[in-house]
Amino acid sequence: MTDQALVDLAFSMLERSYVPYSRFPVGAALLCAGGQVFTGCNVENAAYGSTICAERTALVKAVSEGCREFSALAVAGNSTDYCWPCGACRQMLYEFAPELTVLVARGDGAFVKLPLKELLPHGFGPKSLG
Ligand code: THU
Repeated sequence: MTDQALVDLAFSMLERSYVPYSRFPVGAALLCAGGQVFTGCNVENAAYGSTICAERTALVKAVSEGCREFSALAVAGNSTDYCWPCGACRQMLYEFAPELTVLVARGDGAFVKLPLKELLPHGFGPKSLG
């Protein structure tokens, strides 16, 4: 799976987003160590705080299907700026994959690649509880 293919999958999920409130679709694609890919989109709710982001949708789909090891995540939005993962998503991803590579795309298709540890330095994870 190339970086571009994972980003393309994230973009393909924009049409699945349920975003009647923000009108801001986000798509994600999460690559597992075994090669499977789990996709996700944001799903909003009339009780706004119950909204789930695209990245966490992909993550809980993967974990609930038995996958817990991940190598890369792509996230995409139609925005001018890169569609940076929110803090809650960074934290949820860090739980399972502190070494994750993150591909962050913007509306014109450009994307940047960086380690999750750069997005969440000194993260609190399972080892922190030791
Ligand atoms: N959103 C995501 O799906 N992922 C993020 O990391 C940032 C924000 C969604 C949540 C909401 O549906 C919309 O973008 C606007 O905040």
